[in-house]
Amino acid sequence: MPSPVRFLLDESRLPKHWYNLAADLPQLPPPPLHPGTLQPIGPADLAPLFPTALILQEVSTEREIEIPEPVRDVYRQWRPSPLFRARRLEQALDTPAHIYYKHEGVSPAGSHKPNTAVAQAFYNREAGVRRIATETGAGQWGSSMAFAGALFDLEVQVFMVRVSYEQKPYRRALMETWGARCLPSPSDETRSGRAMLAKDPHHPGSRGIAISEAVEMAGLREDTKYALGSVLNHVLLHQTVIGLEAMEQMQMAGEYPDVVIGCAGGGSNFAGIAFPFLGAQLRGGRRTTIVAVEPAACPSLTRGRYTYDFGDTARLTPLVKMHTLGSAFVPPGFHAGGLRYHGMSPLVSHLRELGLIEARAYEQTRSFEAGVQFARTEGIVPAPETNHAIACAIDEAIRCREEGTSRVILFNLSGHGHFDMQAYSDFLSGRLIDEDFDADALERALAQLPALNAV
Ligand SMILES: Cc1ncc(COP(=O)(O)O)c(C=O)c1O
Repeated sequence: MPSPVRFLLDESRLPKHWYNLAADLPQLPPPPLHPGTLQPIGPADLAPLFPTALILQEVSTEREIEIPEPVRDVYRQWRPSPLFRARRLEQALDTPAHIYYKHEGVSPAGSHKPNTAVAQAFYNREAGVRRIATETGAGQWGSSMAFAGALFDLEVQVFMVRVSYEQKPYRRALMETWGARCLPSPSDETRSGRAMLAKDPHHPGSRGIAISEAVEMAGLREDTKYALGSVLNHVLLHQTVIGLEAMEQMQMAGEYPDVVIGCAGGGSNFAGIAFPFLGAQLRGGRRTTIVAVEPAACPSLTRGRYTYDFGDTARLTPLVKMHTLGSAFVPPGFHAGGLRYHGMSPLVSHLRELGLIEARAYEQTRSFEAGVQFARTEGIVPAPETNHAIACAIDEAIRCREEGTSRVILFNLSGHGHFDMQAYSDFLSGRLIDEDFDADALERALAQLPALNAV
């Protein structure tokens, strides 16, 4: 009997709770601050942006938070997602390592993002909200929110970073098919967008600017709230269904990961796969090496400063302590649009400071090379963001070969790349280059960090 390739949980094994890492941390991350008073923000400060249920999740220290039945009911359309053993990739690498991946590309939108979009749509709907304003980098989050909005009868307005809007017309069509309205950011519909266009009419946009536009729009109308697809504690919480399922599936495989890997833009899919394993370790379980992989062209965790900064460019959000390249930093227009963010989740940043996780940075050509090797062995064409995690998993497996050790490697396949074929074409025809960030622009962005040395 050949060894199994797919580890499948039936619907009855769908988690009933999300896992909250805050319950097991040796110390909590520093609190977000009000930019005016520099005091920790309270629930009232967030009320214009988010429904109460999500604000409570943001500050909760309960270990388990129940997943509402209507959310589980939608999850059942694609969850539990499959876990695969990458046998053919292992063979191609001639490695003694065992490589596993959790496939989040099976969701309707093609990535892990609906895990939180569905939950956020549900809580907003429960709170009587009619409209969601949000931003998207690569289009994965915007399409996930559009999908969730369609199911919970919410209007969705998406500000899409202009370079991605131009690179990925079909992501926009997907959002529109689900009923959302999608605009290139910076747009002329908000004050922050107009300010950027005045400086540069061809501004490529950034996640930070698109967030400013969506936050501003949410502030303009009583019936409109803001939704963020990464970074915040409640978003990371919703993603833990990935790791909770993976723990059971690894048990089915009779193995436990020595290394867990996720790519990191704002940190949500990384947290999703890693936090349940990290929590088990913090409660006295086995030690696992946990690696967040980011793009070398936007290296917040590996090259950024750990300090209080704004989450957006127009400085409308609270101040959060995180690894940041400066909220004024505009990364080069590389293809992993979902990883083009100046900051990192405060929780993931905190873990790095505590030495509980590692961070590595990869160039985009190396990542695409890994993605193509994966596609040619395992068959699945991964998202450009995911390729960063695959490159790291491959390097770990090669290290096992060189050292003659067999380790168990688990990575999160955060999404498929079916809407990213232009990037693959560019790579295959040798047109993809490794654009470094502008070091002077980074220095200027860091010089503009809020002066909060006292906090
Ligand atoms: C497929 C995919 N992977 C990863 C990311 C990075 O986001 P995060 O770090 O929040 O998982 C994105 C963001 O859009 C994405 O679309």
